[in-house]
Amino acid sequence: MLLQGGFTVSNRQPGLRLQEPLPDGYTRAGPEELSTRIAAAKAVLGGRVMILGHHYQRDEVMRWADARGDSFGLSRLAADATEAAYVVFCGVHFMAESADILTGDHQHVILPDLNAGCSMADMADLDSVEEAWEAIAGVTDVADVVPITYMNSSAALKAFVGRHGGAVCTSSNARAVLTWALEQHGTDTKVLFFPDQHLGRNTAYQLGFDEPSMAVWDPRKELGGLEDRIVKEARFLLWKGHCSVHQRFRPEHVAQFRAQHPGGLVLVHPECSHEVVALGDEVGSTDAIIRAVEAAPPGTAIGVATEIHLVQRLAAEHPDLTVQSLDPLVCPCSTMFRIDAAHLCWVLESLVEGRVLNRISVDPATAAHARVALERMLAIA
Ligand code: 13P
Ligand code: SF4
Repeated sequence: MLLQGGFTVSNRQPGLRLQEPLPDGYTRAGPEELSTRIAAAKAVLGGRVMILGHHYQRDEVMRWADARGDSFGLSRLAADATEAAYVVFCGVHFMAESADILTGDHQHVILPDLNAGCSMADMADLDSVEEAWEAIAGVTDVADVVPITYMNSSAALKAFVGRHGGAVCTSSNARAVLTWALEQHGTDTKVLFFPDQHLGRNTAYQLGFDEPSMAVWDPRKELGGLEDRIVKEARFLLWKGHCSVHQRFRPEHVAQFRAQHPGGLVLVHPECSHEVVALGDEVGSTDAIIRAVEAAPPGTAIGVATEIHLVQRLAAEHPDLTVQSLDPLVCPCSTMFRIDAAHLCWVLESLVEGRVLNRISVDPATAAHARVALERMLAIA
């Protein structure tokens, strides 16, 4: 097999994400032609390929997924997909990296479009996290600090937490992972949580902590923009990162929905701000949102605060319910949206021709430490 177009993630210097333009034969093909060609390529590849689809993928991609899931479920599926030589990951870059770390050396993980990144994951890099760690060590005993990184982060950051006694978490297990973290050094334990301040804050509130026990760490400021005393006293140092898709949801959206649908159900992803989460009926990962919709009695009106492709799919799959986005202005994840039928067709047909395109490969040293952090998460929840 020839390897082309992918990149290896080194410890500090992520490879450039430069997606080469698709050949004309893919950009010119219409939806029906692409469907026929994807089906044909899949049939030839059979069990050698496994296509994984995150819930935010468009329908034209999702219909080909052998398995769907949230970021936690997909990491488990990748770890269990020992038979497939190729895992085609229809999601974003950090998810494909985790899949590469959790799959065997005999397997190749492929991301159909290398530009499918995550703006939140890019808000924390290894240099700024190492600087923060040193600065924290200057004012408090860093031996009591447990670093936790959200799945939405580079492999280099997962390796950092693996090296420093921490773990990865996702939106479906953040509570269990933070509970574990807080048990590591008794009542003195402090958590440095990156890159999503909202998931960290929402989970800390769920665990019964109050606002004064949390402080936002701004990586652009000296000592995170905090006084020594705050760094010493806070139980949670929350990295100043966010998801631009989920941050759009506002308390006014919830109020508007409730006014239109008294008795309706509000489901919120924990990447939303705490003000929105506090007004929701249920908070949870994409999988948890799907389960809550499935459990709703016929006729229920449901307002959902998460990415629009999932909301639209839920609405289509549940005609007996009224499922709508809480934000009347559509909010797609532009990087998830980069994966389309044309790119999927391109990587599959290339595999049929013996070429592995867009392989995501984490270097062995980074992968070894990141695997420690990911496996801690899998063992906790
Ligand atoms: P889930 O863990 O719910 O799949 O969320 C991943 C994500 O990127 C949400 O923005
Ligand atoms: Fe990243 Fe937000 Fe897109 Fe999820 S929805 S992949 S956190 S930018």
